[in-house]
Amino acid sequence: MKPTRDRAWETLTRYTKSESLLRHALAVEASTGFYARKFGEDEELWGAVALLHDFDYEIHPTLDEHPQDGAPILREEGYPEEVIDAVLSHAEHLNMPRDTQLKKTLFACDELSGFVHACGLVRPTGLDGLEPKSVKKKLKQPSFAAGVHRDEVYAGAKLLEFDLDEHIANVIAALQPIAKELGLRTAEDSQSAA
Ligand SMILES: [Fe+2]
Ligand SMILES: [Fe+2]
Repeated sequence: MKPTRDRAWETLTRYTKSESLLRHALAVEASTGFYARKFGEDEELWGAVALLHDFDYEIHPTLDEHPQDGAPILREEGYPEEVIDAVLSHAEHLNMPRDTQLKKTLFACDELSGFVHACGLVRPTGLDGLEPKSVKKKLKQPSFAAGVHRDEVYAGAKLLEFDLDEHIANVIAALQPIAKELGLRTAEDSQSAA
């Protein structure tokens, strides 16, 4: 089976109803897709992996189930092992080698997408005008988006061999086109409200 975007979205939305989890999936898809284009890789495959990486989180909300118990479901649905392997590799507790560019990118985009999204939510212009330096400042405030693992954000940039500023700028650029789907305001909204 070819893991198309439609197939992955269909699987994701069958198991996931929460708006915040769907937005997380979309944000990671956009960031991973951005890097797929940058690296000349298969954007649809990478995007499908990103959409699916937390597909079972609603039914398996603890680490003794997520994501490992989701793997047999994906296998049953006919996803190739390449997809399943990459999905599993995002979980720190499984200690799987991140030995492909896709696995590195998924890991690097997972926590940071959520963090950049959170930064956008508290700004009247959303992601528009958001600078990497203010994202880095917020990373140093433990109470802001406290659920985001800072160590994984730093480790992800390192794994991708990108400067943190550049990685943050890339994720901001990746999320801007889907700002509406992520429930973010834009510079345009704040102008029309003025
Ligand atoms: Fe996860
Ligand atoms: Fe995730």
